[in-house]
Amino acid sequence: MNNLPIFVFIIILQSLILSSSCLYQNSSHNILQDSSPFPSDFLFGTASSAYQYEGAFLTEGKGLNNWDIFTHENPGKIRDENNGDMAVDQYHRFKEDIQLMTSLGVNGYRFSISWSRVLPRGRFGGINYSGIKYYNRLIDALISRGIKPFVTLNHLDYPQELENRFQSWLSPEMQNDFGYLADICFKHFGDRVKHWTTLNEPNQQIILTHLKGTFPPSRCSLPYGNCSQGNSEREPFIAAHNTILAHAKAVHIYRRGSLALWCKHHGLNPLAIPSQIEKLQRELNLFIPIDPIIYGKYPKEMVNVLGSALPRFSRKEMENLKQLRLDFIGINHYTSYFIQDCLFSTCNAGDGASKAQGFALKLDRKGNVSIGELTDVNWQHIHPEGFRKTLNYLKNRYHNIPMFITENGFGDLQKPETTLTELLNDTKRIQYMSGYLDALQSAMRDGANVKGYFAWSLLDNFEWLYGYKLRFGLFHVDYTSLKRTPKLSASWYKNYIGEHIRRKYY
Ligand SMILES: *[C@@H]1O[C@H](CO)[C@@H](O)[C@H](O)[C@H]1NC(C)=O
Ligand SMILES: *[C@@H]1O[C@H](CO)[C@@H](O)[C@H](O)[C@H]1NC(C)=O
Ligand SMILES: *[C@@H]1O[C@H](CO)[C@@H](O)[C@H](O)[C@H]1NC(C)=O
Ligand SMILES: *[C@@H]1O[C@H](CO)[C@@H](O)[C@H](O)[C@H]1NC(C)=O
Ligand SMILES: *[C@@H]1O[C@H](CO)[C@@H](O)[C@H](O)[C@H]1NC(C)=O
Repeated sequence: MNNLPIFVFIIILQSLILSSSCLYQNSSHNILQDSSPFPSDFLFGTASSAYQYEGAFLTEGKGLNNWDIFTHENPGKIRDENNGDMAVDQYHRFKEDIQLMTSLGVNGYRFSISWSRVLPRGRFGGINYSGIKYYNRLIDALISRGIKPFVTLNHLDYPQELENRFQSWLSPEMQNDFGYLADICFKHFGDRVKHWTTLNEPNQQIILTHLKGTFPPSRCSLPYGNCSQGNSEREPFIAAHNTILAHAKAVHIYRRGSLALWCKHHGLNPLAIPSQIEKLQRELNLFIPIDPIIYGKYPKEMVNVLGSALPRFSRKEMENLKQLRLDFIGINHYTSYFIQDCLFSTCNAGDGASKAQGFALKLDRKGNVSIGELTDVNWQHIHPEGFRKTLNYLKNRYHNIPMFITENGFGDLQKPETTLTELLNDTKRIQYMSGYLDALQSAMRDGANVKGYFAWSLLDNFEWLYGYKLRFGLFHVDYTSLKRTPKLSASWYKNYIGEHIRRKYY
């Protein structure tokens, strides 16, 4: 158990400090404000995650995590049979990378803590102070360049020991381990980090880990996926339940900070007109784990569809959840779908059509009309209007809670014939980002309380099952020399920020 004293921070939320700068704004600034919806404390940044960036997988006492084991045991599951052993070596090159961020003019950097670097064996071994020291140096270097650290406690990777001991997220024990990690991170970094988020995309993560089983620990059952063990109709909800309670635990530990839960979020467009709102909500409510955190219970659409497969919160847990304060929601957004209702009508089999996914079939076309231009990856269609709708949906459902766009970006799949010149001349990425940032501005004019935007990603990096062949970076990485080269989108983003960011004083 976590028997360390709970550390309460005496801090003023960053947003309060910055909002005082409004006092300095006179009417001519307000005219300026009308032309751009971004407030002066808006964060423009880039995003990353530990396993995808750091490398140094055995350096200075780091323990092995689930992705180290998965990629080494199943090289064939990664498209280029690669792994994150080296990734983009940010562990050794973070100063150079901060230089690149400075060249873009960003004022935020989102990164995650490698759990097994700080706690190689979770609660079952010591703290590794080499890991603590690395993050201290990274945080200090960011702050010295005016870049706010925006820290995710956990982005998919956890010490393998937690899988071996109690099957990680399938066990309530994981809540205690996560609380222990959170406590240690708040203690060591909380004096300088004011934006914390707990878990990255818990909703999407669980689909991959326990419903389709394509990510470790590779658990699923037919017809959802072909795994040697698991139960796709039950385990995703048990794992999700534990992530919600783990989030709650971390928030209780850090009552005073700015803390959020992340969701992978895509826009949804109803396919059929009748009762479209209900259908839309069923899909969204099954997909977004925010209701329990704000209202202390699962949404009724979810209870109706899943019945006894859905774990229950105890009375005490419900009370605890209701008392949590969520300071903001982090939104990772890439694409949109049409939705076909399969509860009241017959659908073809497909993604979403099953009970475990809410009987809401996701489609990228309606008749012969595509929802948006297809990109190199088969799940990503360009449909900025879906982004605007998503932000408006969240605004309405969650009382206009502050939101940060914690990921949005465009992937180029590298084919054998792709040249470096083509990768650097990334006009498609610019077109995508420009469309989505326009949609973001529209949503903000509609009233959505958005506080920041993080482009995924600063650099090309290890893109999970795609390996290094799918490139999301504003900077190209040559995986032989690890040299970083700006793409056209890097200068585009720099100009965009320059035009829209308003410094504190003019
Ligand atoms: C408002 O700000 C502008 C720009 O800094 C400045 O030129 C102007 O004098 C200010 N007006 C007042 C009334 O303070
Ligand atoms: C932390 O890493 C160092 C190497 O930098 C190693 O000597 C030490 O045993 C590790 N400590 C723990 C608790 O893992
Ligand atoms: C599941 O995977 C096993 C082993 O890879 C294979 O032999 C079997 O045919 C697969 N089953 C289905 C239904 O795909
Ligand atoms: C798409 O559907 C419309 C109306 O059904 C039809 O007129 C058109 O030819 C179709 N286009 C293609 C490319 O199939
Ligand atoms: C970059 O791509 C655009 C269109 O995608 C093309 O018009 C332009 O010539 C390209 N520039 C270079 C330097 O290749």
